[in-house]
Amino acid sequence: MTGKRLILGQVLEFLGDPAQLGAGATRHRRHGAVLIAEGRIAAVDEADTLRAAHPDVAVTDHGAHLILPGFIDAHAHYPQTAIIASWGKRLIDWLTSYTFPEEMRFADPSYAAEVAARYFDLVLAQGTTTVASYCTIHPESVNAYFTEAQARGLRMLAGKTCMDRDTAPAGLRDTAQSAYDDSKALIGRWHGVDRLSYIITPRFSPTSTRAQLGALGALWAEHPDCLMQTHLSEQTDEIAWMHSLYPEARDYLDTYEAHGLLRENGLYGHAIHLTPREIDRLAEVGAALVHCPTSNTFIGSGLFDMGLRARMRVGLATDTGGGSSFSMLRTMAAAYEIAQLRGMALHPSESIWLATGASAEALRLGDRIGRLAPGYEADMVVLDLASTPAIAQATTRAEDIWQAVFPTIMMGDDRAVAQTYVMGRPVVPA
Ligand code: GUN
Ligand code: ZN
Repeated sequence: MTGKRLILGQVLEFLGDPAQLGAGATRHRRHGAVLIAEGRIAAVDEADTLRAAHPDVAVTDHGAHLILPGFIDAHAHYPQTAIIASWGKRLIDWLTSYTFPEEMRFADPSYAAEVAARYFDLVLAQGTTTVASYCTIHPESVNAYFTEAQARGLRMLAGKTCMDRDTAPAGLRDTAQSAYDDSKALIGRWHGVDRLSYIITPRFSPTSTRAQLGALGALWAEHPDCLMQTHLSEQTDEIAWMHSLYPEARDYLDTYEAHGLLRENGLYGHAIHLTPREIDRLAEVGAALVHCPTSNTFIGSGLFDMGLRARMRVGLATDTGGGSSFSMLRTMAAAYEIAQLRGMALHPSESIWLATGASAEALRLGDRIGRLAPGYEADMVVLDLASTPAIAQATTRAEDIWQAVFPTIMMGDDRAVAQTYVMGRPVVPA
């Protein structure tokens, strides 16, 4: 039958957040199946049940591999693909030494197109099917990303990064007006087209003037259904810099709040060094935080407080290329280690939920992606839970799915990705 396919393997279904629902949040099927119809999930059940009910449908059997929703990276910078793992700097020096020179190259649309294609190849190989990315100040960098995502049928989000202060280098600055105009035009061209969403994107208050923050706040008020993404309280040096540029601000969040950039559809990346007032305000408006653990250790920023999940939505992200990996498995491992340093042990169900359903909810896409459930888009990753000898031997005594998957969370990489599906189509390996 056309448009239908039955995918067999171990299946983990999430009914919600394990931190809230406990063991009842998940259902594991040792011999499970996902029925795909027209790119969406039509049913999730025991393999025998679905095979009997759909005897004519093509079957792909992944054996003991684990079928999960595709990973969702809630904060990345695709233009930093080529400068990932650059040595020896903290945030401000890292931006000026590595990031800004590389981002200048995106004035060339052909370079932007080349990196966008390379980036999607890399993340799909890691089992990531949705990314919320920053682009550069160049509208061409947004067009390159969305053009490539559209051609591949991906659900992707992104925005033009806006910077108009002289703290950003000449050649990498827009203006308050051009940021507003270009962002508005890009919303008109891309937002809601196919599987694409535009995100209003002031980089962070140290590289924007008050006028630019205000202009983007006004644009957001005109398009409240758009997400807005920015950086918040990542590093203590950065907070001191912010205060020198905005002496009137009560705290970092105030620079956004004062300019219409604090609402429920806001995504605040890093959010490590928050004051009690900032936490209260973020929770009051229903904003989302995005935890970027490999970046926070790589750039030396600090230890995010997972306890904030009790107050607000929190997504998980690589923060490529401040983050040191394209892999959401590696990102889950780093989140586990940071939580340990803060006295919390993240259960494997929470780690997987953070990389799937929680990130989908942070991006306001929790009704379409991030879960294996009827009606959801069939973006999926299939994991080999014994992808290397080291992982295989660590799972030999596993007594349940959590013990079986945890070594892959801690030690896995793209070798664990047996298959990535986009709208039910296998895309990696080709
Ligand atoms: N703060 C402002 N811009 C950036 C960026 O590109 N990466 C990170 N990690 N932090 C930022
Ligand atoms: Zn970032």
